[in-house]
Amino acid sequence: MPYDLSAIEAFLAATAPERLEDYLDFLRIPSISTLSQHGGDMHAAAAFLVERLTRWGLEHAEVSATPGHPIVYADWLHAEGAPTVLVYGHYDVQPVDPLDLWQRPPFEPRVENGRVYARGAADDKGQVHLHAWAARAWLQTEGRLPVNVRYVFEGEEESGSTNFDGWLEANRHRLDADIAVISDTGFFEGNHPAITIGLRGLMYAQVDVTGPTVDLHSGSYGGNVQNPAIALARIISALKTEEGVVAIPGFYDEVRQLTSREHEEFARLPLDEEAFVAHLGVPALFGEPGFLPLERRGARPTLDVNGIWGGFQGEGSKTIIPAHAHAKISCRLVPDMDPQRTFERMRDAILAVPVPGVRVEVSLINSGMWSLTGIDHPAMKAAALSLEAVFGEEPFYLREGGSIPAAASFGNLLGLPVILLGFTNPDDHAHAPNESMIIANYEGGVRTVVHYWQALADLPR
Ligand code: BES
Ligand code: MN
Ligand code: MN
Repeated sequence: MPYDLSAIEAFLAATAPERLEDYLDFLRIPSISTLSQHGGDMHAAAAFLVERLTRWGLEHAEVSATPGHPIVYADWLHAEGAPTVLVYGHYDVQPVDPLDLWQRPPFEPRVENGRVYARGAADDKGQVHLHAWAARAWLQTEGRLPVNVRYVFEGEEESGSTNFDGWLEANRHRLDADIAVISDTGFFEGNHPAITIGLRGLMYAQVDVTGPTVDLHSGSYGGNVQNPAIALARIISALKTEEGVVAIPGFYDEVRQLTSREHEEFARLPLDEEAFVAHLGVPALFGEPGFLPLERRGARPTLDVNGIWGGFQGEGSKTIIPAHAHAKISCRLVPDMDPQRTFERMRDAILAVPVPGVRVEVSLINSGMWSLTGIDHPAMKAAALSLEAVFGEEPFYLREGGSIPAAASFGNLLGLPVILLGFTNPDDHAHAPNESMIIANYEGGVRTVVHYWQALADLPR
């Protein structure tokens, strides 16, 4: 390294056990944003962060209210002449069902095989926590940070970031920055360091099919009424071909085609397809013909059913025609698709399916914009060098399939270049049972951020 970070490294080495304990304490708070009974836990997780950030020397740390769960804000703005970085992560987590598949309860963290297992270990509490510790390391050893920082830790990312843009608008006065750094992504398959340059957007909707007022005896009424579950099955199967192409009219109209150069970049990524299939436990991969698996994930839109229910699901048999049936359906969006327009197209396609004798309703639950950045920004190069300095490997540049609504908001509302610098391992089981974070990735993440702040300060201004 061109600069001497050995005092910080000594601090980090000496405090590793304390850091791990603190990380586990954070994970013990069940901050599930989508379930209303966890409102108090959301507040506790936000307060946990504010307490640490304040104690470790950051300023103006506060639990900032929104109409939903609060946002944690803190800053440190004394690096005169140096750039200002807006750091984003989220302290909320996904629900934990099915609980019986967890080897230990999701909010009782377990350390095993060099990993921390708990809900939020990787997505995203571990990454929020490592940022707080990177700041602590600088402030406690050097009494300063090389850059100005503003932390924005969201509490509703996993439930669609519905209040985020409103909060950004209302807090513009304290969001002046030169770049945004988001740590909510991860490494490439094989745990190779990576920087994410693209994320997909999301459109999430619910379909409700309603038939008779109550469940009916299927013998007395079978043959005289439309079955809502069958109507729903017809609707869903009309949305996609058996090859996996979305069949909604106009769905692909705004999709930006891959250039041959982009195709080559995708093809260059060393995805071990056999290992990928084995890790997923599927008999074979499946998706839109004519594209590589990584292209389908990063550069092509999709439609999926997230859940489907209705009628009898208990043990044995019950002879009914269910009164209603439902599905949660979402689409991942790529440049240049529009979430609202995609919703309208899907709604129209659903309402056009001929299912007489039932009522069909389609409602939008939430949506988020896609984002895509270039790799030429100096802050991007500095991020790559910082990763390489710590992990000893040049990072890959990835277009990922997941969504982070805040990434598009920082770009579109605040006009900031967005650097997606995340550290999770690809087999982290985010959103699933036994989520984990490799402790070496977490620790390397702290050090990468420590380096990165210095590297940003050293960029020619
Ligand atoms: N950290 C993920 C986003 C992500 C996933 C980025 C995979 C890169 C690779 C984020 O917490 C997430 O899960 N987002 C939701 C967004 C939604 C609830 C609006 C998603 O992608 O499903
Ligand atoms: Mn996340
Ligand atoms: Mn997530």
